[in-house]
Amino acid sequence: MLPAIPFDQTAAFKKLKTHHKSISKKHLSELFAEDPNRFKKFSIRLGDILLDYSKNRINGRTRAYLVQLAEECKVEEAIEQMFAGQKINATENRAVLHTALRNRSNSPVLFDGKDVMPEVNAVLEKMKVFSTQVRSGSWKGYTGKSISDIVNIGIGGSDLGPLMVSEALKAYGKKDLNLHFVSNVDGTHIAETLSRLNPETTLFMVASKTFTTQETMANAHSARHWFLEQAQDPAFVKKHFVAISTNQKEVEKFGIDPANMFGFWDWVGGRYSLWSAIGLSIACGIGFPNFEQLLAGAHDMDNHFRTTKLERNMPVMLALLGVWYTNFFGSQSHAILPYDQYMHRFAAYFQQGDMESNGKCVDRTGKAVTYQTGPIIWGEPGTNGQHAFYQLIHQGTKLIPCDFIAPAVSHNPLGDHHKMLLSNFFAQTEALMNGKSEAEARAELEAAGNKKEVTDFLAPFKVFEGNRPTNSILVKKVTPRVLGSLIAMYEHKIFVKGIIWNIFSFDQWGVELGKQLAGKIYPELQNDWPIQEHDSSTNGLINQYKRWR
Ligand code: F6P
Repeated sequence: MLPAIPFDQTAAFKKLKTHHKSISKKHLSELFAEDPNRFKKFSIRLGDILLDYSKNRINGRTRAYLVQLAEECKVEEAIEQMFAGQKINATENRAVLHTALRNRSNSPVLFDGKDVMPEVNAVLEKMKVFSTQVRSGSWKGYTGKSISDIVNIGIGGSDLGPLMVSEALKAYGKKDLNLHFVSNVDGTHIAETLSRLNPETTLFMVASKTFTTQETMANAHSARHWFLEQAQDPAFVKKHFVAISTNQKEVEKFGIDPANMFGFWDWVGGRYSLWSAIGLSIACGIGFPNFEQLLAGAHDMDNHFRTTKLERNMPVMLALLGVWYTNFFGSQSHAILPYDQYMHRFAAYFQQGDMESNGKCVDRTGKAVTYQTGPIIWGEPGTNGQHAFYQLIHQGTKLIPCDFIAPAVSHNPLGDHHKMLLSNFFAQTEALMNGKSEAEARAELEAAGNKKEVTDFLAPFKVFEGNRPTNSILVKKVTPRVLGSLIAMYEHKIFVKGIIWNIFSFDQWGVELGKQLAGKIYPELQNDWPIQEHDSSTNGLINQYKRWR
């Protein structure tokens, strides 16, 4: 059982409350001027990853109090409980063992007294054999042709992870093997995808932990129908459909040969499942040895997380900073800004990772929380974001802590592109920190030859307050191993925040109500009779839809 500690009643919380009053008045540039060792003091390096968190509104005392907060909230004990396979997902009575999926040391991981590693390794072996066959062309479709296109059909964790990683590691992809991801129940998604594909050379991966998710099942049935329109014989389905699921009964009911089923376990949460068979499309796309590197990178981070003391621990420090801004500065959102085009789905991926995990308002004792929990996660790659929403980050009224992520080495070293990209990466965090004073703004306007009245008028608009906190995460190169570590770093950050906020991070009951109501409305849309069962708004909308369709 995870301890249920009311974090806002800890001694550290009270100290931080008082401390916040003084440090929040300090400008980041002052903090840098006071301490020449700030970068060294507030940065952590792990292999090819450097986390610089010095541009945050903290000093040594803040960090000490934050670490004390983590200690009082028993973060270290919670980490051990997770790795040890205890049922810390108490509302679903499940363990949380995605770390076992990437346990490259292969040391035993016990769940209910049984080592899960033999089963994990068996599925990995099956993935290796299958992905090698698909990539080599020896897996043949019903007319004897090799596979040219893979369509992963899944949603949420059964889509976002494989999609994000396949995009981030596209440089490791195979030119004659295309990956597609269909998630939305909007028929446009699958129709547009299939319109470019040939059933003879297309392989579908139906990825669903439960194998009952409405969107995935609807898309899978449409895909099967499309395939059989040409292939005719249902016996051919087994050459073109595989299932990734924990639910063998439903897989068989759908008509997929259990021999083509890749299993996983209920101790793998949907949004933590890319390391399991849900990553099959990744393994096919980048090759199994690279998939193993991805797992190895996550395992590196797991070891760091489990064994490093709190103040040198990357996920822990990122989590504590998250708590600092959410609960003391009142920040409502957090931006993830990768300066790497391949990582364009990284923020979207952690939108689910963070918001589905920590979007909770009831604590672990079942009482309503009296403080803010998970922030809104958002972001887009730089430099595009600079020309879209950075204005608000620089001069808006909201304090938005940002993570800037960039590789030192590009997969596409084209002319000076990467130097330009990185000059923006470095410049943004510096600008957000230092801002521009009124005196500087006036001096610039005067130097540009403006008259005094013009300078007087324009100067206030050109002032940047600065003092906007950022983390910089500089990696050597976005390799499978580095990406694996980065993903695991954010996963553990989310976990630590949930422990401190005293909430359950591994369930997602909030998704259920909308699903239940959609299930009730769906039959009501099968005829043209006017509806009166709902509120006037819902009735009005449904009835207008019926008139228009
Ligand atoms: O959105 C809710 C959710 O349960 C996610 O947690 C999960 O990733 C997604 O639905 C898909 O579920 P499944 O893999 O069972 O189809």
